[in-house]
Amino acid sequence: MTVSISQSPAGVLTLSLNRPDKKNALSLAMYRQLTDALQQAERDPAVKVVVLQGSASCFSSGNDLQDFLAAGELDAHHPTVAFLYQLNAFTKPIVAAVAGLAIGIGTTALLHCDLVYAAPDCRFQMPFSQLGLCPEAASSLLLPQLIGYQRAAQYLLLGEPFDTAQAVAMGMVNQQVASDKLLEFAAAKAAELAKLPAEAVQQSKALIRGKIKRKADKVIATELEVFGALLKSDACQQQLQGFFAKK
Ligand code: COA
Repeated sequence: MTVSISQSPAGVLTLSLNRPDKKNALSLAMYRQLTDALQQAERDPAVKVVVLQGSASCFSSGNDLQDFLAAGELDAHHPTVAFLYQLNAFTKPIVAAVAGLAIGIGTTALLHCDLVYAAPDCRFQMPFSQLGLCPEAASSLLLPQLIGYQRAAQYLLLGEPFDTAQAVAMGMVNQQVASDKLLEFAAAKAAELAKLPAEAVQQSKALIRGKIKRKADKVIATELEVFGALLKSDACQQQLQGFFAKK
């Protein structure tokens, strides 16, 4: 399985990206597994909190570029699209543990997580323009809201990478945690949340996040229209082919 799933008796569901040979690039099958797991977690009262993690050394190199090359219509049935809407709609808390690479959706997905912990050596990057693409996952809304327009432009237009210290300073990451303690630390924080009254936690998340979620839902749709068109452009297809030609 390219997403490993485990559930603790305390109500923590852990989703671990597990495709090390491709640096945890997210394939269509992985999006399907993640969406199904989140949908089941939403329905199951025994699940109180979700942990999203990669391995102790790599979170994710982003969307599988091979799938971008072959992309069909980005309608609501597309596995990536279904995942984006499900992630935004999810009502229970998500704790993310990030190590190594967090590229593309590896970074933008974090904007939907409630608590994010990262190892010191992470490289975050949203190289959408470089690939001839545009922001996704409502990052065109959520990132400028978090860090202001000009800094968002630095990361979403120029696609500059940033490290864990910068991610903490901009409020995208709660705390830097030593690499060898990261997964354990995130699990402990998730267990701490799972012990709290679930109804209170979920209602609080709804209050904090509700308005922005409704906006984000619309923004995801708008971004996808532009993204889908750009994906078919010569500029984008050349960048994607260039990536694999260099290999
Ligand atoms: N999609 C598909 N395959 C990917 C991938 C991705 N996003 N990221 C890495 N891989 C594959 C590589 O093709 C390579 O496969 P191979 O061994 O069959 O040749 C393997 O994973 C290891 O990657 P490699 O590039 O050799 O590792 P690296 O440490 O030198 O570089 C990255 C890692 C992530 C910096 C580099 O792979 C990269 O830039 N990937 C693309 C990231 C990206 O643009 N994501 C989408 C953003 S929207």
